[in-house]
Amino acid sequence: MKDQTVIPGLDGVIATETDVSYLDVEQEEIVIKGYDLIELSEKITYIELAHLLFEGTLPNKEEEAKFESALKKEYALPDEFLSIYNNLPKDMNAMDALRTGISALGSFDPLLEDRSTSANREKSLRLLAKIPNIVANSYHKLTGATPVEPREDLPFSSNFLYMITGKVPTALEAEIFDQSLMVYSEHEMPNSTFTARVIASTQADIYGAYTGAVASLKGSLHGGANEAVMYLLLEGKTVDGLETLLFEKLKNKERIMGFGHRVYMKKMDPRATLMKKALKRLAKDRGREDLVEMCQRGEDILREEKGLYPNLDYYAAPVYYLLNIPIPLYTPVFFAARAVGLGAHVIEQHDNNRLYRPRVKYTGPRNLHP
Ligand code: SDX
Repeated sequence: MKDQTVIPGLDGVIATETDVSYLDVEQEEIVIKGYDLIELSEKITYIELAHLLFEGTLPNKEEEAKFESALKKEYALPDEFLSIYNNLPKDMNAMDALRTGISALGSFDPLLEDRSTSANREKSLRLLAKIPNIVANSYHKLTGATPVEPREDLPFSSNFLYMITGKVPTALEAEIFDQSLMVYSEHEMPNSTFTARVIASTQADIYGAYTGAVASLKGSLHGGANEAVMYLLLEGKTVDGLETLLFEKLKNKERIMGFGHRVYMKKMDPRATLMKKALKRLAKDRGREDLVEMCQRGEDILREEKGLYPNLDYYAAPVYYLLNIPIPLYTPVFFAARAVGLGAHVIEQHDNNRLYRPRVKYTGPRNLHP
């Protein structure tokens, strides 16, 4: 029998070859199609990054305009789509609402079962265009607010924020929200991306792959952490209040959401550093530097007490709070941003597939008879 060493959580296991992205922890670089994600996040827009992930190249101005106009043509949801939410519990979790919406959306797509590169690219673009509409308007529907129609006169990410808040973002808000979508866009092989590739590896369709990825990302150890961070900061209220709360939680051996990372381990997530800078700019604009002080105190405590560093969620959460995004939508926004990475991975999986089917180390009894 071949080696039966179990790797808990597949920690460090290389699952596939890919040209989509790679986390170079030593160089502290998040490589996306050969570029450094942090440098991209400071120099380009989310739409240009989407083009890079779907088409493999950064777009020139003409290609960017063509790509964004193709997206805008796909903003609309099928007629009556939102009526799906009429008969669901009004307190439905926003990630469950998104998962339900993406799953239903597949049945409206004429290319659903076509796994060719061109069809998967077209479906990835449709999902990228429609997911912000589902995120914003399933929430408005379930909370009794009036759905907000997409605005084609706004840039892609500004329209997304507008559909959530109902207000056209300021230049600073638009810039910071767009940057947050870029740092959330793609991150190698997190649980949700692996889930999508495992599903796609059976030749299941891209909508099923995204549906599984939403289910995975909801978990508090994964994407659900950003919402938990904001509730933690609100519970702490002040710098001293947060300090007391954190020491109490650490004494009870509780996990502090927004800290630690399977890959970065004892290093700062480079994306958190970028979002921390964004938080400082936004907090200054809002007169909420107290929030920055609270986050810094929390960061110092976890580093001093546990040798743990913030991950992206720790600083993305207060940024979303100051952008007036409802807390239940933090993880759905994370998923909407990750739609570009998921598309690239599913396209790659279908183009060069090998069914995922690991083995086990059996620890149960043998040779029993009924
Ligand atoms: C995301 O994979 C990705 O790239 C994901 C992501 C992406 O972009 O897709 O980056 C997004 O999911 C970021 C992570 C968001 N999750 C959280 O913030 C939840 C809190 N973090 C932890 O639960 C934890 O750090 C994980 C889940 C992120 C990583 O956990 P591991 O690698 O399985 O590490 P572990 O649970 O084995 O912990 C190792 C030690 C343990 O101590 P001991 O029991 O050995 O004494 O570190 C401790 C843990 O207790 N620890 C924490 C902690 N994280 C780890 N202790 C307190 N608070 C924490 N947050």
